[in-house]
Amino acid sequence: MQKSNQNVYSKIDNNLYNAEGDIWWNPDSILHLLKTSVNPWRVGYSSTIIKKLNYEPKGKTALEVGCGGGILTEEICKMGFTTTGIDPSDNSLETARNHAAASGLNIKYEKGTGEQLPYPDHSFDCVFCCDVLEHVRDLPKVISEISRVLKPGGIFFYDTLNRTFISKLVAIKIWQEWKRWAFMPPNLHVWKMFIKPEEIKQLLSENGLKWVEHKGSQPNVSIPKMLSYLRKRVKGEWTYEDLGKNFRLVESNDMNILYAGYAVKR
Ligand SMILES: C[S@@+](CC[C@H](N)C(=O)[O-])C[C@H]1O[C@@H](n2cnc3c(N)ncnc32)[C@H](O)[C@@H]1O
Repeated sequence: MQKSNQNVYSKIDNNLYNAEGDIWWNPDSILHLLKTSVNPWRVGYSSTIIKKLNYEPKGKTALEVGCGGGILTEEICKMGFTTTGIDPSDNSLETARNHAAASGLNIKYEKGTGEQLPYPDHSFDCVFCCDVLEHVRDLPKVISEISRVLKPGGIFFYDTLNRTFISKLVAIKIWQEWKRWAFMPPNLHVWKMFIKPEEIKQLLSENGLKWVEHKGSQPNVSIPKMLSYLRKRVKGEWTYEDLGKNFRLVESNDMNILYAGYAVKR
């Protein structure tokens, strides 16, 4: 898989993460859905793997690449890792630092991109990159950098969006474009930047990471119910907070939209 061409990359709105104020922890904000609707699935997934591997996070280091406002980073820290988050957005980093301080969590937040991680080789026991790979300009470079900073035997956890007909219909048309239901801003995601599982497996193997597994996800409610929830939000009957209380992802074998996985550094 190649890096995205400029024409495709110019369509994604990564600038929205630089918006003023706290766009992450306000319960009535779109990005807070990462906490209420996505964290239960992805944190549940990584915690289960960590337990299954008898892996003890205490005394180990973890890096979250593309940490945004720290919604996942704080969960990684609570697992017991000595935690670092890195992101290109100054505003998001400021929010993340303030929230960690207010929560009494000791997390190091630094500015940078996944394409150029400012760490020596073999710095971390674990790297997380969740809901970020489909946003980056140069995916092969990000995977190579993640592999470089991982210690041999280290674990790489990720989740991302698959490039399928169904993901185009659900994640682009319904969630983002069709005004009847859309709850995401336009160009939050660009379908051509979504990643097929085989593509990520290929990149992992080219970069010294042994792919182990993928797991899919699905909404906790039926599709008609999901549409009715989204409609309530559009009509102003529900806030994002209401949406987050009722709608979340659960683990499933369905790999069509969001899937998670992990790999081990050789
Ligand atoms: C959907 S948010 C995910 C935030 C966080 N990982 C989470 O799930 O809570 C995407 C994040 O990727 C960051 N990002 C965009 N391009 C990036 C790049 N090239 N390298 C690292 N992070 C990037 C954005 O600034 C934003 O914070």
